[in-house]
Amino acid sequence: MSETTSRPRVLSGMQPSGNSLHLGNYLGALVNWVKTQHDYQTLFFIPDMHAITVAQDPAQLRERTRKTAAQYIAGGIDVDKSILFVQSHVPEHAQLAWVLNCITGFGEASRMTQFKDKSAKGGAEAASVGLFTYPVLMAADILLYRPQGVPVGDDQRQHVELARDLAKRFNHRFGETFTVPEAFIQKEGARIYDLQNPTAKMSKSASGPNGLINLMDDPKVTAKRIKSAVTDADTVIAHDRENKPGVTNLLEILSTLTEKPIQSLVADYEGKMYGHLKADVSEAVVARIEPIRSRTLELLDDPGELDRLLAQGAAKARGIAAETLADVYAKVGFLPPMGTVV
Ligand code: TRP
Repeated sequence: MSETTSRPRVLSGMQPSGNSLHLGNYLGALVNWVKTQHDYQTLFFIPDMHAITVAQDPAQLRERTRKTAAQYIAGGIDVDKSILFVQSHVPEHAQLAWVLNCITGFGEASRMTQFKDKSAKGGAEAASVGLFTYPVLMAADILLYRPQGVPVGDDQRQHVELARDLAKRFNHRFGETFTVPEAFIQKEGARIYDLQNPTAKMSKSASGPNGLINLMDDPKVTAKRIKSAVTDADTVIAHDRENKPGVTNLLEILSTLTEKPIQSLVADYEGKMYGHLKADVSEAVVARIEPIRSRTLELLDDPGELDRLLAQGAAKARGIAAETLADVYAKVGFLPPMGTVV
């Protein structure tokens, strides 16, 4: 235990927004999380409370939460090395979020670009107050565990910046309490683009389903989607993000999976056709994700066991979170309930 506690801590989460993680979630985030397990004390969680900032079907949310957890484990999150949990199982997240809401400026929250984008899409009236304070809940997720690092994509940089500001502000007002976390931004190479719209990041909303490679799809579906990926009118296999985004995306997927440098791949494909490249990408993708899919299905076959693992994770998380929250409550001046040892 002393060995693990001396290691720096990282924490991250990904929303349970679908039945399957896509290749962008996997190569861009999960693979990186799995690696951090060697050198850090790691916490990974499923932000189901963030998910309800937009309308969710309750049964589906429950199902997706389990499915996401199963995919984390199948993808390499080791529940003996990492603390894996569901956000709503740890009430301290909501409790700390309230305190942080009270030190966040209204204008400051209004400047969050993701909120502005999301609320602009549905109209300001349709946006919930929960969506507005989403970044504050995220700050609570982070600060509760006092991590040094938060591995996230570039789109979450501003939210981690808010968490840093709130940590500093709280420390300044109430005394040293929180660690000021760093965003560990995933590098560009790990960014996967949509197969049909290769200038947009692969995401559920980028285009239709044909733009996605899902961990949980049948390998035949995956092969078909890669085969129909958008390329371009000429036939040269070159790495050129600007002029050949589709081919470049395929090369990057292959390079990430095979760990071969792009330039050596480009040399290998000299004189070959897009069809060759697509066949190889397809083979490499399926070889990598198929074992994850079957392991996920196995885990989902025994939901009781999965729930037990998540309950264990939540108990470990609460061990840390409750201590931080008690410190925060005392510092802001909440009267401890009678019988509490402080
Ligand atoms: N907002 C993140 C996303 O959409 C998910 C998230 C919630 C998160 N809380 C977090 C990520 C805390 C890192 C740390 O991807």
